[in-house]
Amino acid sequence: MADKVTKIGVLTSGGDSPGMNAAVRAVVRTGLYHNCEMFGILRGYSGMYEDEIIPMDGRSVANIIQRGGTILKTSRCKEFMTAEGRAIAYQNLQKRGINGLVVIGGDGSFKGAQIFSNEYDIPCIGLPGTIDKDIAGTDFTIGFDTAVNTAVEAIDKIRDTADAHDRLFIVEVMGRDAGYIALHSGIATGAENILIPESKTNIDDLVHTLTEKSKRKKLVNLIVVAEGDEYGGAEKVSQVIKEQMPTADVRVCILGHIQRGGAPTCLDRLIASRMGYSAVECLLNGTHNVMVGIVNNHMHYTPLDHAVKEKQTIDPEWLKIVKILAR
Ligand code: F6P
Repeated sequence: MADKVTKIGVLTSGGDSPGMNAAVRAVVRTGLYHNCEMFGILRGYSGMYEDEIIPMDGRSVANIIQRGGTILKTSRCKEFMTAEGRAIAYQNLQKRGINGLVVIGGDGSFKGAQIFSNEYDIPCIGLPGTIDKDIAGTDFTIGFDTAVNTAVEAIDKIRDTADAHDRLFIVEVMGRDAGYIALHSGIATGAENILIPESKTNIDDLVHTLTEKSKRKKLVNLIVVAEGDEYGGAEKVSQVIKEQMPTADVRVCILGHIQRGGAPTCLDRLIASRMGYSAVECLLNGTHNVMVGIVNNHMHYTPLDHAVKEKQTIDPEWLKIVKILAR
């Protein structure tokens, strides 16, 4: 049984996401409120392995709630995937007496936390920090709302130029293996079609619909493609459309890492603050090895191994909405 938690380390791991700083701030300040000693672990698990661990006080997290990126930096650490690497990381925590961890990241980061806490009996709390929203047990992940809003702003601008030239634009958004950014940003920008990995892409159907629309003189079309769509990305889709509709004026825009940066939205700051606060409360009240999420606006705790194994599911009705609204 782990000791009462008195010294807490916090790290950000995997791809950064807007709102991670707000979460770090909430963790550090809640820990200090409870008289815990707080430590920032730099560059995710790499800092734990390479002994880059710094004490944090209330001032260390001043003026960061509004900033994108992560002041703790982040990385994907190969050494932590080995038992030897984790043993070294554990020694570095032990040197300082750190006996509780908050890991802010995606499911890869939670996998590491789960294995580590099984091996070393150190309680770990996960906070879902990823723009992809591909984690079960929470309605939102930290950074998703900002990323979607960035995508919406960009796609609105693309629509202006698409409209001026009567063009078909294929916009590719991030999301790794998940289609949430595509689905949300596509509906919010009135896309004609949204291609996501969670539903099979029927390219013949897509070409047929576009041909029908061009007969009706509807020439401005936006298609939002998730980077992980099983058919391929925007370039592949554009190539096929160009072959089958040689007169169509087609352009591709890949939004890329712009979706990862920028000031977090109010929603991301809010959920990050609530989740960060709850993470420390969990460590102190003995609710260990869970991911803190928010479901129906209430805090929700999912055992880390479930958060790792299960994905969110897409409601098929959302895709029906896209079809009905795109005329
Ligand atoms: O997981 C966040 C994410 O931005 C994905 O949407 C994307 O596929 C990936 O990270 C990109 O990773 P990297 O920054 O290493 O290129």
